[in-house]
Amino acid sequence: MTQTLLYTGKAKSLYTTDNPDQLLCIFRNDTSAFDGQRIEKLERKGMVNNFFNAFIMETLNKAGIPNHFVKRHSEEASIVKKLTMIPVECVVRNVAAGSLCRRLGVSAGLELNPPTFEFFLKNDELHDPMVNDSLILTFNWASQKDIDQMKKYAFAVNDVLKKLFLEAGLILVDYKLEFGHYHGELILGDEFSPDGCRIWDAETKKVLDKDRFRKEMGDVVEAYEEVAIRLGVKLPQVA
Ligand code: ADP
Ligand code: TMP
Repeated sequence: MTQTLLYTGKAKSLYTTDNPDQLLCIFRNDTSAFDGQRIEKLERKGMVNNFFNAFIMETLNKAGIPNHFVKRHSEEASIVKKLTMIPVECVVRNVAAGSLCRRLGVSAGLELNPPTFEFFLKNDELHDPMVNDSLILTFNWASQKDIDQMKKYAFAVNDVLKKLFLEAGLILVDYKLEFGHYHGELILGDEFSPDGCRIWDAETKKVLDKDRFRKEMGDVVEAYEEVAIRLGVKLPQVA
């Protein structure tokens, strides 16, 4: 397979493949917080996130939510459909945490009913500012149809995953999604892993996501692995 590096992000690298419609996505061990201000390599994280993401994307696909995942290629890489990404992040929240608490002064842990939806512009230099439908249309980041579909899919993901996580004794607190176009069709891209969502143990409220890295709580990858195992993700055995 001929591979040319197309893009290196903070946690993943994308390479071309022999198929012009597909990319090789390598999940690296790099872990970043605060828009790339702090980056550390965490052993096994790339592998865990690759298996985690494959499991979630396959689950969403079976539930009728179209996404870019084609197949797992190796322990740390997957083949994905090449998308033209929409430069906004879609955040759905079931429970208040993180920036929602800072911005609105609400207590962490408050149940959000109905769940909330927010758009953020994908721009590290500007620290991913919050945007809305009007700004997205004016600056031509996406069409009204795209906006409606992103919201619809983002909540459809919630219906599937909230239940799946709860069955494993886990609360899906919030998560970030990115979408793109594949031959004109809007589909889910990027990744779903503990790097881009918040997950708490339902009983103890133990933090099992990237907040462990942001808040320097330790055992980051161990927590990701715990979630993966509880969800039934088959991880390679440690040698
Ligand atoms: P970041 O760019 O935020 O640092 P990553 O390290 O995760 O993040 O890099 C992955 C990049 O690839 C992101 O910018 C994401 O928008 C983009 N991307 C994700 N999936 C696809 C895809 N299927 N096709 C093209 N680009 C993608
Ligand atoms: P926030 O509370 O910082 O706004 O984040 C909400 C959720 O979205 C949280 O699970 C982390 C995720 N997220 C990312 O993965 N990347 C980002 O750039 C942002 C802004 C949020």
